[in-house]
Amino acid sequence: MNTLLSASATPNPGDGEGELLGEVLSIRGGRPLTGRVDVKGAKNLATKAMVAALLGEDVSVLRDVPDISDVQVVRSLLEVHGVTVEDDGEGVLRLDPRGAVSAHMEEIDAHAGASRIPILFCGPLLHLLGQAFIPDLGGCRIGDRPIDFHLDALRAFGAIVEKLPSGIRLSAPGGLRGADIELPYPSVGATEQVLLTAVRAKGTTELRNAAIEPEIMDLIAVLQKMGAIISYEPNRVIFIEGVDSLRGYDHRCIFDRNEAASWACAALATDGDIFVGGAKQQEMLTFLNVFRKAGGDFDIAEDGIRFRRGGALRPVVVETDVHPGFMTDWQQPLIVALTQAEGESIVHETVYENRLGFTRALVQMGADIVVHPEGIASSDRRVPRRALEQAAVIKGATPLHGADVVVPDLRGGYSYVIAALAAEGQSTVRNIGIIRRGYEKFLDKLAAVGADFDVIG
Ligand code: EPU
Repeated sequence: MNTLLSASATPNPGDGEGELLGEVLSIRGGRPLTGRVDVKGAKNLATKAMVAALLGEDVSVLRDVPDISDVQVVRSLLEVHGVTVEDDGEGVLRLDPRGAVSAHMEEIDAHAGASRIPILFCGPLLHLLGQAFIPDLGGCRIGDRPIDFHLDALRAFGAIVEKLPSGIRLSAPGGLRGADIELPYPSVGATEQVLLTAVRAKGTTELRNAAIEPEIMDLIAVLQKMGAIISYEPNRVIFIEGVDSLRGYDHRCIFDRNEAASWACAALATDGDIFVGGAKQQEMLTFLNVFRKAGGDFDIAEDGIRFRRGGALRPVVVETDVHPGFMTDWQQPLIVALTQAEGESIVHETVYENRLGFTRALVQMGADIVVHPEGIASSDRRVPRRALEQAAVIKGATPLHGADVVVPDLRGGYSYVIAALAAEGQSTVRNIGIIRRGYEKFLDKLAAVGADFDVIG
């Protein structure tokens, strides 16, 4: 039986990052956002490609790298391990792994920040140095986010995993060998872990139930440029033939479809008109379908996509899923727009168990949203029900009004800002720093689309 959880008005510290990263915005809402923003390379590719550079025997060049704090975290970690990283200030990183060395646990811990990327250093470091250490991992607090798939995969390659009070130490005295791995769920991170480890392991790896997100395909392209042999078959099967050495790469990151979808939802929620330079149709097909069904309209151009309303907003039923489904990262900004649709929308969150907590602040701003922590049974589901799923029922249209809210996580934080911009009156949005983990030049872009705000702290 479903338990009903009425969204309460108080921000829940349990959903937050635990520390306030600074910057408070005072936002005056009620104005459509109109103008152009450009998106750069995807956070969820750039950071992984940077780790891949560790596997090369010479310099790698990564282009269109976004200026976000997750990239800074990975850069610091690479530097701690002796990799030289040069940044031309225009999104081009030159990564030289030739001086790679093992780092002290304390240094790694100090530079890991709130990111989950350190876990992806394991395979490359085990090949390079025979050992690796990962601190307790951060990342957005959107569920338990365990690392069991990662550790099981690394064990399958022959790594020895030792849990310490400060983190996890791995070693591979006999080297790593190809493995036969089936993931319990097509996890993005675990698939990347297997790819980054298998390319230099001895022998062939077969990975079943792999994630096939466009960012993963782009990582495969990076690894192929480095000399890896990777093929994939239908039904989420990837084969990796290990090679003895890899060279550097020169690669332009795939665009950030999460950022593009966020700005699209900002246009929808505020009845605005935003051209997202760099957005591409192919990787956003599923999003565009839902956007259109919810009353949005878009024009695809050579250099980007223009997003706006096509009439009154309409309620939709959405299930988040792995690719090619509707991404979990898209549901948070979409929910803001759905508060303005006449009727009842349902968002089934099937990827993370705690990614709907952010709706509490939307309720505080006047939205009618009820979260069902154990999901809602429904006969016409495409995605098989998962034990951890939740659902949000959004009844609209409800006028939004200003409020004082604290950013809980990356996508939730972005959603609060656009809710405040869609709302009548003044809002205070605190802890904006988290948004910099994944949205580059966020305040400049807000200004470029005519948002009315001040930085007050
Ligand atoms: N999971 C496990 N065990 C594991 C790994 C994952 O149970 O060892 C579970 C997770 O708890 C979750 C599900 O599997 O319920 C999916 O997790 P996945 O591993 O696919 O996610 P991730 O690699 O940790 C990446 C992105 C997320 C994005 C998800 C889904 C990065 C750095 N993060 O996370 O991005 O939501 O894939 O597409 O690539 C964001 O950008 O805001 C963000 C959170």
